Amino acid sequence: MTSPISTSRHGHVLVISSANPPVNALGHAVREGLVKGIEEADGSDEIKAVVIIGEGATFFAGADISEFGTPKAFAQPMLPQVVDIIENCSKPVVAAIHGTALGGGLEVALACHYRAAVASAKLGVPEVKLGLLPGAGGTQRLPRVAGVEKALQMTTSGNPIGAQEAFEIGLVDRMIEGDLLQHAVAYATEVADIRPLPKSSERQNKIEEASPSVFDDFVAANPRVFKGFDAPRKNLEAVRAATQHPYADGVAVERQLFMELMSGTQAKAQQYFFFAERKAAKIEGVDESVRPREIRKVGVIGAGTMGGGISMNFLSAGIPVTIVETAQEALDRGTGVMLRNYEASAKKGRFTAEQVGQMMGLLNPTLDFDALADCDLIIEAVFEQMEIKKDIFGRLDKIAKPGAILASNTSYLNVDEIAAATNRPQDVVGLHFFSPANVMKLLEVVRGAKTADDVLVTAMALAKKIKKVAVVAGVCYGFIGNRMLIPRQTEATKLLLEGATPAQIDKVHVDFGMPMGPFQMADLAGVDIGWHRDPTRIENIRDALCAVDRWGQKKGAGFYDYDEKRRPSPSPKVQEIIEDFRAKAGVTPRAISDEEIVQRTLYTMVNEGAKILEEGMAQRASDIDVVWVYGYGWPVYRGGPMHWADAEGLGKIVDGLKAAAPHMGEDFSFSRLLLDKAEKGEKFTGR
Ligand code: 3HC
Repeated sequence: MTSPISTSRHGHVLVISSANPPVNALGHAVREGLVKGIEEADGSDEIKAVVIIGEGATFFAGADISEFGTPKAFAQPMLPQVVDIIENCSKPVVAAIHGTALGGGLEVALACHYRAAVASAKLGVPEVKLGLLPGAGGTQRLPRVAGVEKALQMTTSGNPIGAQEAFEIGLVDRMIEGDLLQHAVAYATEVADIRPLPKSSERQNKIEEASPSVFDDFVAANPRVFKGFDAPRKNLEAVRAATQHPYADGVAVERQLFMELMSGTQAKAQQYFFFAERKAAKIEGVDESVRPREIRKVGVIGAGTMGGGISMNFLSAGIPVTIVETAQEALDRGTGVMLRNYEASAKKGRFTAEQVGQMMGLLNPTLDFDALADCDLIIEAVFEQMEIKKDIFGRLDKIAKPGAILASNTSYLNVDEIAAATNRPQDVVGLHFFSPANVMKLLEVVRGAKTADDVLVTAMALAKKIKKVAVVAGVCYGFIGNRMLIPRQTEATKLLLEGATPAQIDKVHVDFGMPMGPFQMADLAGVDIGWHRDPTRIENIRDALCAVDRWGQKKGAGFYDYDEKRRPSPSPKVQEIIEDFRAKAGVTPRAISDEEIVQRTLYTMVNEGAKILEEGMAQRASDIDVVWVYGYGWPVYRGGPMHWADAEGLGKIVDGLKAAAPHMGEDFSFSRLLLDKAEKGEKFTGR
């Protein structure tokens, strides 16, 4: 097998190039090749300096994650050895960085004596996002080169920094304009005779400069970074070791902490999720040769919260949007909200005022429905009512240009029925954005019975362009995400009647790692969503709340009372309503255990996920996990409901559901797939 690493001589400089597409991951063959390259440099008197460079799109984007958990990850030389060999090369080594130097890639660069980068390069240590820490000396070299505080930020957030910032903090030594290889070779020639060689591991000045309270200050200023996750804390401990020990001892601490994380459940879940997210982009049954349609202009119908948020995604990506409303006031209100959202982002430094002007300049607000005629994609974002949607699609059919994609942002309704209102069902698709649509990363792409393959391919490609994570769903009530909310909500509400409180149920969910529980979510979204609007018709607790104006946070009262700062507190009034219901239903309240809450509100979601799978409404179990992590904030360190169920053991899930089934009555029925898998000892997800 040919090595992904090749060497070539440029005068007295040895260039070690890596060609391991797509991201130059540091798999075993790359590691081996790098060591051989350094040996070649050490062994030749003619070579005075070395350049390490990546071919294709990028420098090394990190260790090869697909090797984790396989013998290849432990095949010699391992990355910690490789970086030491690079640093101990007798000739100066220059890292020539373009694309991304991430994780192990940045660790390789840190081991080089000099780092040169092009302005578009990004440098970072994203290991924390995989439940890990930089395990090849990164936690020890980074604070020595970039400073302790910056190292803390970079390791615990995992977010990369741009080359210019890296240059300003000393992580990059030289910015390159023009041909990277040529300039890196010139740089290597320039530094060839400088001795002693600057070694990151030997630098002490930035460690000494660090404030003694830097760690406590960082934890106090960033409490959310540490909530629930194991890895940020261990990243911090590893960086702390760099300030307490000589390099070699610090590396030993780093190794120990790395191994602890690697063997934990969170790292497994987060690594599983890395691949789950990428797999979601792949559409089953669609040939890879199918090309997307070109989307140069987008139309959005409805300038409400959803329509406005959806439009912002395209404007931010530089795609012009025509937004249509039926009344000037609604149109002005909608565009006003968009502008204010952009201005708020600008205040936080995300955009310049000029960029905000450019983005808003791409927006064409109008009352003229026919102005949608030249759009390549038109997204309907109006009320969730089938008749209204059918009417709109019928009108679109008459005016939209041939080949335009007609999408509905429905969150529950039947996309096939909507498509049937047109003579071009092949061009119709569901694009279910999550609120707030300019922020939430998830996009459910709903594949109708007649949706054309190239429409699906376009939707997936466009999602990537507007920085969304898209998941293909089939046509069923609520698709993947909202459908799984139904059993959760049903059981949560019944549990109130049986003796639990909203606060008890929500706490179980928050302790589990969800951003909020079912009742906090109802209050945020609006208790009145889907309400029949008749205050005299009271059939359940929600109806009773709506009838007394407790519509959620927007009214200052819902399942909780809210103060003027929207801080919730348990509500005696709600308790009264619940007790009233109990009395009417003749229910004697009983003590509800947290375990029962888990069984009835989380295990039932797994069961619904299994039904979605067995009906073919999701392509794969991991897609369901992507929906829940990106759409509802399921803690990524638990991988998503299906991965979590696998980790718990499907037998345990089935037993729990059997125990809770008598309380759930007719609302519950087992998924055949779940029972089968549990019986056979199988899993939903591979890893
Ligand atoms: N190992 C193995 N495969 C990787 C990989 C890695 N580090 N990084 C990306 N890939 C694969 C992806 O799975 C995907 O494969 P597919 O085409 O078969 O689905 C392909 O490369 C392209 O990836 P993306 O779709 O993500 O491409 P983008 O261009 O959108 O993004 C990227 C490129 C920014 C490099 C992004 O892939 C990324 O963030 N990668 C992960 C980087 C990372 O986490 N590095 C740290 C690894 S852990 C480590 O180094 C441990 C060390 O400290 C010991």
